[in-house]
Amino acid sequence: MTTQNERIVLISGTAHPALAQAISRELGVPLANAHIGRFPDGEIDIKVFDDIRGADTFVIQPTCPPVNDNWIELLLLLDTLRRASAGRITAVMPYYGYARKDRKDEGRVPISAKVVANTMVAGGADRVLTLDMHAAQIQGFFDVPVDHLYAKPVLLAGVRNMGIESPVVVTPDVGGIKMARAWAKALGADLAIVDKRRISGSEIAVEHVIGEVGGRNVILVDDMISTGGSISEAARIVRKEGAKKIVIAVSHAVLCGPAVERLDSCPADAILATDSIPQRGKLPHQFQVISIATLLARAIHNIHRCESVSSLFEEIG
Ligand code: R5P
Repeated sequence: MTTQNERIVLISGTAHPALAQAISRELGVPLANAHIGRFPDGEIDIKVFDDIRGADTFVIQPTCPPVNDNWIELLLLLDTLRRASAGRITAVMPYYGYARKDRKDEGRVPISAKVVANTMVAGGADRVLTLDMHAAQIQGFFDVPVDHLYAKPVLLAGVRNMGIESPVVVTPDVGGIKMARAWAKALGADLAIVDKRRISGSEIAVEHVIGEVGGRNVILVDDMISTGGSISEAARIVRKEGAKKIVIAVSHAVLCGPAVERLDSCPADAILATDSIPQRGKLPHQFQVISIATLLARAIHNIHRCESVSSLFEEIG
């Protein structure tokens, strides 16, 4: 059995090196020296140069697009660390890919979020640190501890800085009510719901808004923007119903397919998103990034020291 020593080791996959560097700066712990490249046939080639034997090791790799590449790379990193006798291995996945496929809602489909969990634990993860999973119950797919952080304190600080008066918090679908209610409570705001119907993976239809948004400033909150259909249509309908300023706050900006064009042309005045996912292409003109590096660094620090992580759910300064 491997015993753990006092050292923290941080290792970055290739999914989001900028976030890993920011976490490293916050913690004052350098990233481990490692090579992650490709063999000529495209297979992933990994070599960790530092001795990590016995260390409390955190591997930072959101499984954002390209999801399959980033997921396999994470599994190979976990295997590398386990075989190098790391003490305890924590997979830091600020974005959990495949989380939306969390149940068998029709015949002959996989529960992909469970497959991700199974492979990570089999691959060597002793614990998981993640942020705003699409469904919090995914924690139960793991038989190892999962620390599930919320981006709300970080995004809320950004919204508060905008000085928006008497806002209404709006969720773009009924599934987001719990998150929206928490926002409304924190802001002392009213709550409204957009009645959304999904037609396909990238097309949705909105019928009407349940609640009063006319003449009010609106904060639209969601866990993620994928193709941008849900949030841009929600922005459109609240503006049609008379909303004044419209601010979007989301944890994960996946921004795939037509998302950038949809957001760029939607009536939102600002779009606040965390850096759980790296942005490498053109962005909507309203886009603002708020970093979760401090939140993740504090969580890593507390996990290492065996201190409470739920204390970080309060607003952070
Ligand atoms: C749905 O349940 C989620 O919370 C998001 O609203 C949805 O996944 C966003 O997808 P899209 O941007 O493609 O509409």
